[in-house]
Amino acid sequence: MQTKILLPEDRIPKQWYNIIPDMPGPLAPVIHPGTMQPVSPDDLLPIFPMPLIEQEVSTQRWIDIPDEVREILRLWRPSPLFRAHRLEKALGTPAKIYYKYEGVSPAGSHKPNSAVPQAYYNKISGTKRIATETGAGQWGSSISLACQMFGLECTVYMVKVSYDQKPYRKSMMQLWGAEVIPSPSNRTHAGREILSRDPQSNGSLGIAISEAVEDAVSREDTRYALGSVLNHVCLHQTIIGLEAKEQMAMAGDYPDVVIGCHGGGSNFAGISFPFIADKANGKNVRVLALEPASCPTLTCGVYAFDYGDTAKMAPVAKMYTLGHDFMPPGIHAGGLRYHGASPLVSQLVNAGVVEARAVHQLACFEAAVLFSRSEGIIPAPESSHAIRGAVDEALKAKEEGKERTILFNLSGHGHVDMAAYDAYFAGELQDYEYPEESIKESLANLPKVG
Ligand SMILES: Cc1ncc(COP(=O)(O)O)c(C=O)c1O
Repeated sequence: MQTKILLPEDRIPKQWYNIIPDMPGPLAPVIHPGTMQPVSPDDLLPIFPMPLIEQEVSTQRWIDIPDEVREILRLWRPSPLFRAHRLEKALGTPAKIYYKYEGVSPAGSHKPNSAVPQAYYNKISGTKRIATETGAGQWGSSISLACQMFGLECTVYMVKVSYDQKPYRKSMMQLWGAEVIPSPSNRTHAGREILSRDPQSNGSLGIAISEAVEDAVSREDTRYALGSVLNHVCLHQTIIGLEAKEQMAMAGDYPDVVIGCHGGGSNFAGISFPFIADKANGKNVRVLALEPASCPTLTCGVYAFDYGDTAKMAPVAKMYTLGHDFMPPGIHAGGLRYHGASPLVSQLVNAGVVEARAVHQLACFEAAVLFSRSEGIIPAPESSHAIRGAVDEALKAKEEGKERTILFNLSGHGHVDMAAYDAYFAGELQDYEYPEESIKESLANLPKVG
């Protein structure tokens, strides 16, 4: 009856797994938002340092993790894998439930897995300052921490609704030395444009990305960093699934289904890509992404070229999208309020390799409370979507009287999200219907490519 399955420090993976050579078909080109032609590496240089641009398009299956990065990851990695005996008992399910816990990082989520290498590659490329955005505040705090460790300055544009809901995330970023600005702001053209149309704007990840990209390209010493969506971010996060695979083997098990919540796709890619690689070797593993019903990118969006941001400054990629000017309702899982998705995850959904499912926030909070009361850990509202998925799979196994091994990624803890739990217990949270009209309007504005 082992509960925690732990790896020693020297088993932190030495390489990331790059899924690009194993994708079901060629990748769609990334398009320059100005010329509408495929981007060249030089086009991206004002935004990202060269090593990250190279990783974005690399076809090398295994990519070395620099020692300087592993040395910092060692502060919390390898992260534990838990067998959720108590949750299984509470559900009365014959299913075995395992979860990989990424909340043990200093920032409390999986995000530092990519923040640390991104800060490192910027540092060795001569960048002095990073401009970035944050939704829930998890990415912002992670990159603030990583910049602090490599001696870089950091400015974070934080989505206004989260800035107001999560003041302690702001404090964490400031503690780690970053400047934090509520978005939309008066600092940038993009922010001023939005504010002139809607002075009360809640903000969105799409708007905050526009502000951060504009900030980065307007200064020679500054580059932009993104906490999700991009191929190199998914690459860095595969450390989660690589460790989990070893830990499952230590437990003498292999998952029938691997589950992650999906915002831009990075933690989902992290837990699932190394298992998807096994499908080619005959493993029959299902892979399931859970997203909010109020921002249902993978389940209700279209698979098309779209801008990564609201102000059309970021590159155009082929992905599932609800339209770059879609404004998701202000749900508490702020990190899942993104109109687009990782192009890699999108292609896998489109090819039928990955299943996607949308869930309402009240059902997610219900699952999070059950989880906290059985396993103890208080999950981030984003991670509660993965818990909902795992609980539903376990209940289905019970109904069918079948054994099933479930692995999910618990992407972060909710210690800085207690206002969301307060609102849930006070009965103040509501489910938002699928915002059909605003999605339709927004999808009418997709760019024409090719
Ligand atoms: C704890 C947590 N989980 C999940 C996400 C969603 O992001 P991604 O889809 O990139 O993993 C976020 C984003 O902020 C987060 O903070």
